[in-house]
Order: sequence, then structure tokens, then C-alpha cells
Amino acid sequence: MAKIRAAITGVGAFLPEYRLTNDELSTMVDTSDEWIMQRIGIKERRILKEEGKATSDMAVEAVKQLFKKTKTSPDEVDLLICATITPDMPFPATANIIAHKAGIHNAWSFDLNAACSGFLFALATAAQFIESGRYRKVVVVGADMMSSITNYKDRTTCPLFGDAGTAVMLEPTIEEVGIIDYIHHVNGLGRHHLHMKAGGSLRPASCETTKNDEHFVYQEGQAVFKHAVTGMADVAVEIMKKHNLDSDDIAWLVPHQANLRIIDATARRMGLNPDKVLINIEKYGNTTAATIPLCLYDFEKQLKKGDNIILAAFGAGFTWGSVYLKWAYDTPE
Ligand code: UT7
Repeated sequence: MAKIRAAITGVGAFLPEYRLTNDELSTMVDTSDEWIMQRIGIKERRILKEEGKATSDMAVEAVKQLFKKTKTSPDEVDLLICATITPDMPFPATANIIAHKAGIHNAWSFDLNAACSGFLFALATAAQFIESGRYRKVVVVGADMMSSITNYKDRTTCPLFGDAGTAVMLEPTIEEVGIIDYIHHVNGLGRHHLHMKAGGSLRPASCETTKNDEHFVYQEGQAVFKHAVTGMADVAVEIMKKHNLDSDDIAWLVPHQANLRIIDATARRMGLNPDKVLINIEKYGNTTAATIPLCLYDFEKQLKKGDNIILAAFGAGFTWGSVYLKWAYDTPE
């Protein structure tokens, strides 16, 4: 019997309209367009400003668009997994809220927290349900409202992040396309370098935690940078070697968009020509679980059926990983 693979059959995305530019940031903290472009590579990021809106609202727009693109009725969905570190609230899961708002009634759903590697961890998880033959339609959401946990008084972190909601559909195929393999890693020691100090069971929210700005991203930039450069490049090269792929075999690298320098270092280690690397960090910054699907969305028309694609990410945890897939469809112009 032919092997069932899980293939991405569509991508949806939602971006808030408000553009927070480097020039505007320069009026908020002591920074400049030149510094941010040189050290990170971001020009602007989208911010969800509407009162009463949250991560689920961006995700729902992406899911609705995905349904349209893939001609899916919400009742056909078997499972929805939401990768996020900015849930609407600590519980219930944002995945449940998205399913409700998107009219998904015959599915179960849950959140998955692997920070910037969240989409890749969720993709590998979702693929199991398709490959086993159990499910035919699984939605994987990558969505984060990073502006809700970004300290706009801290110049070392506030230029980095943006908001976005994304969703992909996974379906079975017996063709030689879809998710071929993945390699994922964690090292919990890395938590010391990148985390949110309060709001969990270790340090519940209080007047003191609020006063001390403990409900924002805390990052030791240089330590994270060092681990990200080696982690992301190592795991991308590891999956290439495992499948005897050399740089000519690879059509595209779709990297997590945290810092242009990390992306360049990964591509160099893989021996890839820069024109094979999909980059949109300049427009959106680091949208955490949404960066990779947002890149697939932006460049969808350039992806051709059968293209060998490597996805790679590194994030808080530490978590890092790579996915090797063959793109499953051509998008008409
Ligand atoms: O996606 C999750 C994983 N996260 C990452 O992958 C992020 C990894 N880290 C990074 O991308 C980089 O470490 C940052 C972009 C966060 C920082 O860049 P860096 O080259 O590591 O800068 P640095 O922290 O070493 O700071 C260099 C200098 C410092 O000044 P002094 O001490 O040399 O006088 C900082 O105070 O740059 C200063 N600085 C800034 N200057 C202007 C830090 N932030 C800014 C700023 N504007 N926004």
C-alpha cells in the first residue's frame, strides 16, 4: 500500500493594518532606523491596535481565508492545533476559541507552546494524525500578538516583534509530496535567557510584578543569538545530510524570521545561494509562531509542486527544529 503523507494544501494569513515603523520607534526609545536595519533587518512591523481584539481574532481571519482557498467547509475539519505564546487568556486554549469563532463544530483542538519553533512542532504533531490515516483535514495555526507582551520602553526587545495570524491545511496524499521528515530539539536550560518572568504559577501576577515590568519578553540578546545561529544552522544541515540533499537539491529555505544575520548564517552553512532563501522580516519583524507560514503565504506563487523545501526555526525554551517537505501544489497566477 502506498505511504500516506501529510501535505500542506493551502495557506492563509492575516496582518493587522497598523505599521509601526523604525522612525516611530525612534520617538519611543533611544534607537534608529540605521541600528535596527544593520543589527536585525526590520523596517516595520504590524500591530493589532483594535480594542478587544486578540490572537484568536487574527487566527480566525487566517482560517476563514484558508477555508475559501482550499474550498473547505468548517464542518469537515477533524482537528485544529494552535501554536502560540500569546494566548487570548491562560485558559481555555486559544485553539478552542478559534474553532468556535470559525464555525468548526466537528473537531477537537488544543494549543501548543514552543515559542518561535511552535509552527514546526505543531506541523510535526498534526502530520501524525494524517499519516496514520485517522484524519483527512487538520488545521495548523501559528499566531501571536507579540505587542501584548512587548515592553515599548525596552529598546533591546521592542524593535524585534510584530503581530500576525496564519493557518495552513494539512491533508493526506499518496503522491511523492508533503512532509517527508522533521528533526526537533529542546534544551530547557535555555529558558534562563529568554522568558516571561511573571504571570505563571511560579510568579502569579501581582502589583509588584506589574510594577517591575515582569509581564513582558525578557531576553539576553547575545546569548540567544549565539545559540540561534548554531542551533538553526545545525538542525538544517542535519536534515539535509540525513536525506543526502546538497544545496542544489533544495529549492527554498524558509527560516524563522528573528534576525537577518541568523538567517544569513544558516543559509551560508547550508551552502545555499541567497536567492533560495525566503525572507520577509523587513516587513513584519518576528511574529513568533507565525513567521514561517507567513513566508509561505507571501511567496506562495513562487513555490512549485515537488519543490524541496527546508523549514528551520529556533526559539525560547530553547526549542529548535527543521522540517523537510516537498511542496504539494502550484498556485495559479
Ligand atoms: O526568535 C526568538 C529567538 N530570538 C532571537 O533569535 C534574537 C537573538 N538576538 C538578536 O537578534 C540580537 O542579540 C539583538 C538584535 C537582540 C541585539 O543585537 P546585538 O548585536 O546582539 O546587540 P547587543 O545586545 O550586543 O548590543 C550592542 C549595543 C549595546 O550598546 P553598548 O553596550 O555596546 O554601548 C546596546 O545597548 O547596541 C545597543 N542597543 C541598541 N542601540 C540602538 C541595543 N538595542 C539597541 C537599539 N538601538 N534598539
